[in-house]
Amino acid sequence: MKTAVFSARRYDKTLLARANQDAGHELRFFEDRLTLASASLAEGCEAVCVFVNDSVDAQVLAALARQGTRLVATRSTGYNQIDVAAATQLGIEVVRVTDYSPHSVAEFAVGLLLGVNRKIARASARTRDGNFDLEGLMGFDLHGKTIGVIGTGKIGVIFARIMAGFGCTILGHDPYPSRGFEEAGGSYVAVDELLARSDAVSLHCPLTEATRYIINAHNLARLKRGSILVNTSRGGLVDTEAAIAALKSGQLGGLAIDVYEQEANLFFQDLSSTIICDDVIQRLVSFPNVIVTGHQAFFTVEAIGQIMQTTIDSISAFERGEALVNRVPPA
Ligand code: NAI
Repeated sequence: MKTAVFSARRYDKTLLARANQDAGHELRFFEDRLTLASASLAEGCEAVCVFVNDSVDAQVLAALARQGTRLVATRSTGYNQIDVAAATQLGIEVVRVTDYSPHSVAEFAVGLLLGVNRKIARASARTRDGNFDLEGLMGFDLHGKTIGVIGTGKIGVIFARIMAGFGCTILGHDPYPSRGFEEAGGSYVAVDELLARSDAVSLHCPLTEATRYIINAHNLARLKRGSILVNTSRGGLVDTEAAIAALKSGQLGGLAIDVYEQEANLFFQDLSSTIICDDVIQRLVSFPNVIVTGHQAFFTVEAIGQIMQTTIDSISAFERGEALVNRVPPA
């Protein structure tokens, strides 16, 4: 099936092509993000394959539908970048990658928590500069501390299990409680209690209208003073300006983010020789107690292999008219 692959980096091209060896779909790779301006690149492609920062809104979907697209396959778990209601109206199916190494993201979240608490990136930068002073590098033991997990699905449960292994008390909040979380040693509490009691909070819920800015000025004020916030889910969960204010006041003791609400124009590209005009991210990276990574939590051999294979399998199933196991339900 003719498939236009947007936001294609070198590893996407290599690994998607490898997964496609037996299936033999005609893959057309474009480094461009999918936007209204670039949608014409997919002319004649029945399938369009996208990533987290492609813009798959109603206008773009209408343009794709006019050109013959009938399937949108996102190489991600989250699908908040796709207007599913508009796709449904246009008769376009949407598939995602429901299941791929949730360990990749959970382990990265633990790494971010350790990194910001124990100032590992700062320490490494110092020693490269011949500075072996420990001043300013003190962290706290995670053992015996309380960790809040917002969103206890696949990734949240694994994160909880790892943190329980550190000897932490685990609190969770999720409108759909899971046995797995409790089996990992977690206890469910109301979000206010979670914020008030946790020494660190990690976000593992999807971005929806209900969760947008779930961490806002109001909830930041409810955090235990000096606690750490980790976000590997979606940038829109955190009101970044409010987080900056909380960092300045000391209410927030540390912030580690792999996702950023304005990441679409920044992430997945090398901007090191340009002037970055986003003052919010520039302010964030200037804090000594902030770590920012560029949406890399999923980026392991295991996860990428699974993402590519699932994506190709979905396109093949669609071509054969079979049931789509990774279908996003029509809105
Ligand atoms: P999942 O669907 O297994 O779990 C999400 C959980 O969030 C569910 O239990 C759901 O009930 C819960 N939830 C929904 N609304 C909530 C609310 N208002 N408050 C608290 N919890 C709520 O998803 P999974 O696989 O664990 O992924 C979680 C998120 O991680 C994805 O939606 C995606 O945004 C993000 N992600 C980030 C990656 C990265 O590379 N940084 C890679 C993969 C996923």
